Amino acid sequence: MPTWQGQFISHSRACAESDPAPYFRRPFFVEDRPRRATLYVTALGIVDPYLNGSRIGDQVLAPGWTSYRERLMVSEYDVTELIHTGHNVLGAIVGEGWAVGALTWSKVNHHYADRPALYMQLELDHTDRAHTIVTEPSTAPWKLSDWRVGTQGVRANGLYDGETFDARLESPTWCDPDFDDREWGPAIHYHWDLDTLRLATAPPIRRIEHLPAVAVTTSPAGHRIIDFGQNIAGWTHLSIDTPRRGQDILIRHAEALTPEGSLERETNRTAQATDRYICAGADHEEWEPRFTFHGFRYIEVEGWKGALDLSNFSAVVVHSDMARHGWFESSHALLDQFHSNVVWSMRSNFVGIPTDCPQRDERLGWTGDLNAFIPTATYLYDVQAVVESWLTDLMIERERVGNMPRSAPLVDPRPSQPTALWGDAIVNVPWTLYQESGQVDVLRRCWAAMRSYVDEVESSLDESGLWNTGFQYGDWCDPDAPPREPGQGKTDKYLVAQAFYARTTAQMASIATLVGDTDAARHYTDLAARVRAAFQGAYVDPRGVVAGETSTGYALAICFDLLEPEQVEYAGKRLNSVMAGRQFTISSGFAGTPFIADALTKTGHLDGAYALLMQTQCPSFLYPVTMGATTIWERWDAILPDGRLHRTGMTSLNHYALGAVADWIHRVVGGLSSAAPGWSRILVAPQPGGGLTHASTSHITPLGLAGVSWAVEEDEMRIRVIVPPGASADVRLPWHAESPTIAVGPGEHEWAYPVCRQ
Ligand code: BGC
Repeated sequence: MPTWQGQFISHSRACAESDPAPYFRRPFFVEDRPRRATLYVTALGIVDPYLNGSRIGDQVLAPGWTSYRERLMVSEYDVTELIHTGHNVLGAIVGEGWAVGALTWSKVNHHYADRPALYMQLELDHTDRAHTIVTEPSTAPWKLSDWRVGTQGVRANGLYDGETFDARLESPTWCDPDFDDREWGPAIHYHWDLDTLRLATAPPIRRIEHLPAVAVTTSPAGHRIIDFGQNIAGWTHLSIDTPRRGQDILIRHAEALTPEGSLERETNRTAQATDRYICAGADHEEWEPRFTFHGFRYIEVEGWKGALDLSNFSAVVVHSDMARHGWFESSHALLDQFHSNVVWSMRSNFVGIPTDCPQRDERLGWTGDLNAFIPTATYLYDVQAVVESWLTDLMIERERVGNMPRSAPLVDPRPSQPTALWGDAIVNVPWTLYQESGQVDVLRRCWAAMRSYVDEVESSLDESGLWNTGFQYGDWCDPDAPPREPGQGKTDKYLVAQAFYARTTAQMASIATLVGDTDAARHYTDLAARVRAAFQGAYVDPRGVVAGETSTGYALAICFDLLEPEQVEYAGKRLNSVMAGRQFTISSGFAGTPFIADALTKTGHLDGAYALLMQTQCPSFLYPVTMGATTIWERWDAILPDGRLHRTGMTSLNHYALGAVADWIHRVVGGLSSAAPGWSRILVAPQPGGGLTHASTSHITPLGLAGVSWAVEEDEMRIRVIVPPGASADVRLPWHAESPTIAVGPGEHEWAYPVCRQ
């Protein structure tokens, strides 16, 4: 890491709502071109760096969101090609971002800083000498080579509310040497501890894709509405032919339309999600915002003059630039769309940190959402660096506030108590990363934090080992919970807590062994047994009936191994009949839903699992797909069959948590799963059903590509398997007369045999 030699700079007054963004510039002279020029840049806010009028790099929304008081990420760029001999100008625009702007439903701003502030360090390496230019306050009297601050086109910006840009006020030369900055003011020192600066480790946020507009309609109020065909996180790119000077264009973003065809803006809650562009009056103008992002599929356009063509608009998809690692497709169009919706909700919610949703006044790193989704996330994308960065913040915040926060970075001032699914993310998330990578380091790094959470819960158990006091989210967003009380699902919340704590303590016993703490391994093994026994004692009758007879109660008991072998079969039967009693619609929330299909499969009710998967009645996995969903909703019935939004206030249409069921789809429908940490052993065990005639899935494991593809044609089953170098696989051939398990090594393998459905 370089030695930081500069200071943060800003303008002289605290930022009020809707303030123009500060533009910074600093001229410098170079006698001969350096061998190498490296720029380090970060900001309290969102920074767009420039050199000699050129935007540097392709990162957007940098430095992303971390626990800034402890770690503020610095971007590093090779700018050698942009340096000229003679006069040069280094510049930057800094928006409010997470550090300065309003966050959460409370709309409180200034969480980290009261104004946008910039840090830059340009290192010019001339072989025989080195020269460094850094941000520092202007001198008095003013010198030509001082930093100056002014305002230009960006008139207002907020992550939730949007950006206003007045092109009449933007000089194209503001970052050129001959720009006259005498009207700009001095830069002042902004106090910020340079020890917080870190070189970024996670992939940056980038524009990943441009989606064309697919349709234009007119709302009942006469506004033109553009449909991009896909719900995303990002923004709109405008391309305006023959704009008039001063023409004021408003772009409002929304995820859905009302049945009447107006924008449905309720899912944004208080986020205005409105960008405004005031034209300069050039022959042709192009614009997109840089200091905001929206969760949207539709835009409403106001102030457009003349013909409006679909080619005037595109949607810019923005997220952390992670490598895609997992794929699935099948013979069932709705199922494929469902899987695509899971992928899109993941993409929309990995904008720097893993969040709940990209559209409303939250976009927070909620622990419970990622805890539910992490097995699916690690399959679909290489999330290691993004999630490890977020875990670092989670642990920092825990240290700071003295308990396990429910979101990180933490700006929600409400004190936290240990809570199942949310709190134990500190154990299950690193555990899942370890399962994927086979690298123990992440467990070591999180070990102390894991222990503190698990030990805190242990201290609140009653004498029988039950966790039955304190706040719990329970089976959050159970469709049967009262509309405005998503935490009041029908499954006893302490049953949910006990089940998760049993899983967590069992994981702790394994982790303790892996990190080499034998005393702790013994302790957590005993604790896990005690917690499991308490679950049995309080919630399970001798036959295997789980208290309350809810699908979540059964699924957790079965999947977390909380039943005796002789109870499992009966519990599976009961689960299947509970589900059949509801025609296999969903009656579970965040805690239970990821496990229902698995529990049915494990107990021999594969048909029930497929009935659940293929159901299209509300609420079900495929119901939103039949309603045109292109992402996973916060609740399966967020839009009701009459096309109206459920009036619960919990109706984000882009929440990945319930997409967690894709993990079962990969393992059971596709048939690919890891049988040892790091995928050194693989289980290939597709279990066809649901009328599917074909499915395939593949995953880039740490050892290389693994894949399974199966197809049934005229009663012949064909299976193709790819095993990466260094791995071995156990292949269980489905619908085979002898049900063999075949051990194979690296390479491609293929089988074809007559289907035997016994
Ligand atoms: C979020 C959830 C989150 C929950 C917990 C909600 O508003 O969107 O996904 O986990 O709050 O309180």
